[in-house]
Amino acid sequence: MTFCSREDWNEAIKDIKSNKGLIIVAQVDANIVGMATLARGRLEKNKHTAHLGIGILKEFGGIGIGTAMINYLMEWARKQEGLEKIALTVFSTNEPAINLYRKFGFVMEGINEKQYKIEGKYVDDIIMGRFLT
Ligand SMILES: CC(C)(COP(=O)(O)OP(=O)(O)OC[C@H]1O[C@@H](n2cnc3c(N)ncnc32)[C@H](O)[C@@H]1OP(=O)(O)O)[C@@H](O)C(=O)NCCC(=O)NCCS
Repeated sequence: MTFCSREDWNEAIKDIKSNKGLIIVAQVDANIVGMATLARGRLEKNKHTAHLGIGILKEFGGIGIGTAMINYLMEWARKQEGLEKIALTVFSTNEPAINLYRKFGFVMEGINEKQYKIEGKYVDDIIMGRFLT
C-alpha cells in the first residue's frame, strides 16, 4: 500500500473531482478497505476517455469487493455525457487485476515492454481498454 499525506490526498481528490471524475471507497465496518478512481482526460482531445485505478487491501481481496467497485464505476461511466472509453494500465505480472478487468470486457490494446524493473526483474506494462458503447 502507498501512503501519502492528507494534503496530497486532498489535492488528488480535488483534482479528479474538478475534472468530472469519480472516487469511490469500499468500507467494512469503520475501515476503508478499498478505493477506485476514474480520472477523466483533461484535454479536448482526450476528454472522451477516463483512466481507471483500483486497490483493495490484501486481506480483503478475493471476496468480490473489486467486482462490486468496478461494477459501480462502469455504471456511473455509462451515464456520463461524452465519456466513450475507459483505459488503464496494469503490470503483466498482476494476474488478479488482469482477470478482473477481463471479466468486465477490457481487452489488451498494447504492451510497453520492460517498462518497469522491480527487484531487478523487468516487468511489462499492459495497456487495456473498454469502450462504453
Ligand atoms: C486486483 C484487485 C483490485 C482485485 O480485487 P478483488 O476484490 O480481489 O477482486 P474480486 O474478489 O472481486 O475478484 C474479481 C476477479 O479477479 C480475479 N481474481 C481475484 N483474485 C485473484 C487471484 N488471487 N488470482 C487470480 N485471479 C484473481 C478473478 O477473475 C475474480 O473473478 P471471479 O471471482 O469471478 O473469478 C485486488 O487484488 C487489488 O487491489 N490488488 C492490488 C492493487 C492492484 O493490483 N490494483 C490494480 C492495479 S492496475
